[in-house]
Amino acid sequence: MEKIVIAIDGYSGCGKSTTAKFVAKALEYVYIDSGAMYRAVTLYFVKHYINLTNPKQIEQALEKIELAFITRPESNDCDMFLNGINVSKNIREMYVTQKVSEVSAIPQVRTAMVAQQRKMGKRKGVVMDGRDIGTVVFPDAELKIFMTADLKVRAARRQIELLERDQLVNFDTIKENLSKRDRLDTTREVGPLTQAPDAHLIDTTHLTIGEQVEEVLNLATGVMITEDLKHKTSP
Ligand code: DC
Repeated sequence: MEKIVIAIDGYSGCGKSTTAKFVAKALEYVYIDSGAMYRAVTLYFVKHYINLTNPKQIEQALEKIELAFITRPESNDCDMFLNGINVSKNIREMYVTQKVSEVSAIPQVRTAMVAQQRKMGKRKGVVMDGRDIGTVVFPDAELKIFMTADLKVRAARRQIELLERDQLVNFDTIKENLSKRDRLDTTREVGPLTQAPDAHLIDTTHLTIGEQVEEVLNLATGVMITEDLKHKTSP
């Protein structure tokens, strides 16, 4: 079968990453969590006291950042390495989560991340989730998904996720953080979160992860069959 690019965008806490991971595993595709890249940059900026209003400092910091994903084949989970160090846990800490939308709104940061993401998807066979994957990173992706869900449901899911990582965070704090990130992510000037006109909308409020995965896999199968036919019938 022809390999395709699957772009999954949407609000925080809709189950994008979990769905993307399972879909990639089922199709034997590479999974790329673009949010983890923005989180790693944020971690670096916080640790090195980078002034977010100083373009020169930002440029110099970006030159010193090397990001890499290493996938654990048994789960298709990918670890995020920042300058050779596994920062997968650190990038999920609340202090990073609270700063990441501000950092990811910086145009220089977006330019650097988009360039790396495009390189990662060049050979197709990837599932990438984020905010601007179907609109900016891969506007020609064969399959685009846009996920949404009720804010309270998203906050509850996030709270459980954090508890599983031994982080007890107040429900209202999570809800406010999600709502603030929604606002910042949708209103920033470069690469704002928005549904691409050709993206399939999936509201996950009442869906289980299994149902979300099934829906995306059904869509992917349809697209792959069409692409295969196109390929076979083209002169
Ligand atoms: O998916 P996530 O919650 O881990 O993403 C963290 C933040 O990174 C999110 O608030 C917005 C930003 N982000 C982005 O601006 N563009 C992407 N493609 C992915 C994430």
